[in-house]
Amino acid sequence: MTNTSVTYMGIPLRNPVIVSSSSLTGTLEGVKKAASAGAGAVVLKSLFEEQIDADLSVQTADADTLSHPEASEYLSGLGMQLGPNAYLDLISQAKKEAQIPVIASINCVSTRWWGEYATQLSKSGADGLEVNVSYLPRTLADTGLSVERHTLAIVEKVAQNLSIPFSVKIGPNFSAIPHLAGEIRKAGAKALVLFNRFYQLDVDIENMSLTAGVQFSNPQEYNNSLRWISFLYGTAGIELAASTGVHDGETLVKMLLSGANVVQVCSTVYKHGYPIIGKMVQTLTDWMEAHSYRSTDELIGLLCREKSDNPQQYDRLQYIKALTSIH
Ligand SMILES: Cc1cc2nc3c(=O)[nH]c(=O)nc-3n(C[C@H](O)[C@H](O)[C@H](O)COP(=O)(O)O)c2cc1C
Repeated sequence: MTNTSVTYMGIPLRNPVIVSSSSLTGTLEGVKKAASAGAGAVVLKSLFEEQIDADLSVQTADADTLSHPEASEYLSGLGMQLGPNAYLDLISQAKKEAQIPVIASINCVSTRWWGEYATQLSKSGADGLEVNVSYLPRTLADTGLSVERHTLAIVEKVAQNLSIPFSVKIGPNFSAIPHLAGEIRKAGAKALVLFNRFYQLDVDIENMSLTAGVQFSNPQEYNNSLRWISFLYGTAGIELAASTGVHDGETLVKMLLSGANVVQVCSTVYKHGYPIIGKMVQTLTDWMEAHSYRSTDELIGLLCREKSDNPQQYDRLQYIKALTSIH
């Protein structure tokens, strides 16, 4: 009997396919659909820092307290956006009705709100928390070091008041990912999600205005996550979740072999619907049977850099081979 179960941040999952934080998981209905489709877990749609800001500002009606007045006005005008209390309700409903591990998610750019809210999240029934740090360096004063310090300050702030396991989701644009991974582990995170795919910005040249770029990844986008997962497995001391470009069962197998404990899927579910989750798990099961693996534990990290007899293959050697073989 093939056993696809895994443990992620100490949470037992029936398989390693997690539906990523997105509108897919922003309602109880979406969470139930993911559960019925066979997902191992869900990460709920993030609660954005600006939502707390907007909620408080509506309550206090004090415009001077707003850090992002435009964001607040926008968010408080959107009836469907969940505020912090409604978010806690979604967590407890999902836990009650969906029979699947539920990971809450917060999207942070500052340390401002998360200390107190982390306490409430700990009591909400969520199995874990994903901390999405979405700070974009915008000024000449931001240095690589200051961005890393800011990221860690957010993680430390959340960790102070949290009694459930948490992961940190980062974007791909850091100069020294292994060092940062180690610091994130020291700050108490149990897992690292590689990577967030930032909102894509575009320009409408007819209307001379900003528009949204293509928000969905394509199946060729997984290699950067795969590289860093294969580098970090066995060295950073933190569990790894692959995110961005995981669209099918073959990529799921590749990520596990590279060292991911789990994968997160978003674009592929938008494109192909929830049944893709079952298909991915079936591909994993078939692959494990064909290669005589009985449990996922046996295959996670088999192809990581640390275990390789020829680690240079993971960096420069493959690069040289690839470039010299193109004519
Ligand atoms: C419509 C949409 C909404 C998203 N909302 C969130 C969010 O609230 N929080 C978050 O951490 N990531 C969010 N993401 C990013 C996804 O969780 C994921 O990291 C990204 O899409 C890359 O994975 P993929 O290649 O499987 O799509 C969103 C993505 C999309 C397309």
